[in-house]
Amino acid sequence: TIKDTAHVLSRYLDGIMIRTFAQEEVEDLAEHADVPVINGLTDYAHPAQALADLMTIRERLGRLSGTRLAYLGDGNNVCISLMVGAARFGMRFVAATPEGYEPDATAVTSARRAAVQMGGTVELVRDAVDAARDADVLYTDVWTSMGQEEDAERRRRDLAGFQIDDGTVELAQPDAIVMHCLPAHYGEEITESVLYGPQSAVWDQAENRLHAQKALMALIMR
Ligand code: NVA
Repeated sequence: TIKDTAHVLSRYLDGIMIRTFAQEEVEDLAEHADVPVINGLTDYAHPAQALADLMTIRERLGRLSGTRLAYLGDGNNVCISLMVGAARFGMRFVAATPEGYEPDATAVTSARRAAVQMGGTVELVRDAVDAARDADVLYTDVWTSMGQEEDAERRRRDLAGFQIDDGTVELAQPDAIVMHCLPAHYGEEITESVLYGPQSAVWDQAENRLHAQKALMALIMR
């Protein structure tokens, strides 16, 4: 059981990073472990990625507060953690998704509460063009996340208008950056020319997973 595993690993380790499917497993592990537990990815959230993302935005744009981040596509685990993180730093977050692909309503409510306190905003829209216009950051993630593989065809159809391509980048601020947590599916949520283009911050973002997670361990592990 997760509970027994938590007790055993707590005797072996100074901390646990768990990358799994169900969010409840992380929470269960954290409840029973005596050492810090880090969420390394679940079906609901990806907070470790969001830390690296915020670090990258601050490095590249010099600030977080007041910057406009447009997330295009599926309101998934990555979108949820980014939204919550962005709100906590007073960013102007907008997610453009088709109907039925919005980020989880409870997370939206909590992000909006944080945004009000920090002077940011959290918007949900249907129009990818509206969202991308004047954005400082364009962000996307795969249309089919882990566990959704059987639904891939329908998801490709529904999300077809939400790709980040060269035209989308043109709509954003001239010095906007493009982000993706990887792995990318070229020709679906992003084109290869954008991912390797001059405005891509994707490789800094990938590197910053290392630094942000080192910082997290330094902060919570004794
Ligand atoms: N949304 C993706 C993120 C992969 C790092 C997934 O859950 O599969």
